[in-house]
Amino acid sequence: MSGKSAVRQTIVQLLSHMRDGKEIREYLHRFSQVDQTRFAVVKVGGAVIRDDLEGLAAALSFLQTVGLAPVVVHGGGPQLDEALSAAGIASDKVNGLRVTPDAAMPVIRDALTDVNLALVDAVRAAGGRAASIPFGVFQADLMDEAVFGRVGEPTGVRRRLIEAAMHGGEAPVLACIGETPDGRPVNINADSAVRALVKDLQPYKVIFLTETGGLLDADGDMLSTVNLASEYDMLMEADWVTGGMRVKIAEIKRLLEDLPLSSSVSITRPEDLAKELFTHAGAGTLVRRGEKIFE
Ligand code: ARG
Repeated sequence: MSGKSAVRQTIVQLLSHMRDGKEIREYLHRFSQVDQTRFAVVKVGGAVIRDDLEGLAAALSFLQTVGLAPVVVHGGGPQLDEALSAAGIASDKVNGLRVTPDAAMPVIRDALTDVNLALVDAVRAAGGRAASIPFGVFQADLMDEAVFGRVGEPTGVRRRLIEAAMHGGEAPVLACIGETPDGRPVNINADSAVRALVKDLQPYKVIFLTETGGLLDADGDMLSTVNLASEYDMLMEADWVTGGMRVKIAEIKRLLEDLPLSSSVSITRPEDLAKELFTHAGAGTLVRRGEKIFE
């Protein structure tokens, strides 16, 4: 399928879900009103890039087709595992962070740059416009070199490259390589990078594009909405919430605490992005901070 017809398919799919155009127009109006550096931060995992690059590219260029400007951040877990093992470097994890010896840094830089360029090329092939920004954005301090090696904790975001891309009408596509104050490259965990970016840009939407496309309940059905103010404690205690899901929910809670109440997080699949954004019912899981009714 060519890129353009993938975008067309997204639009046809969206049209088939609407009763009338009102819903879509409302959301489009709402998303267009915010300054476009503040529309959405979209996080894409390495697995989606590996398994669904075309769908992903179609979803991102679809947003541009309707005049919206996402900022994209990507990981590269599976690609890094592969590149490091090919280079004969062990990739251990401590507390979920990839221990990064000096020798791993150039391998990680090159592998993430490849992933980054593959995504940018795919967006362009789908008719979209994208700028490759594999490094130069995240400022970071070494976390604990003795334990983690060259893993950085983000301390700030240099917006210049992001803004320059956006002024040129291109979606900035960021990889998670940071620099220490003295200019040494460091490996940054993608979720930490997203948090730093979100804190700085204050987007209206934070969108996670994943393969599952949302959080699943005890029966394996998609949770449509999560209101953290009323449901967080219940979710953290529920025995059907897996360890991985608990981490994700806690992470999203932290993200939303840095944002205005009007912002929300959506977890969805690339194929469902249009429906998630432009309909009330959505397709995926919407997480809001919500407000406590009883204190
Ligand atoms: N389109 C709206 C939004 O993106 C609502 C989405 C609802 N999604 C859901 N999974 N319940 O903010």
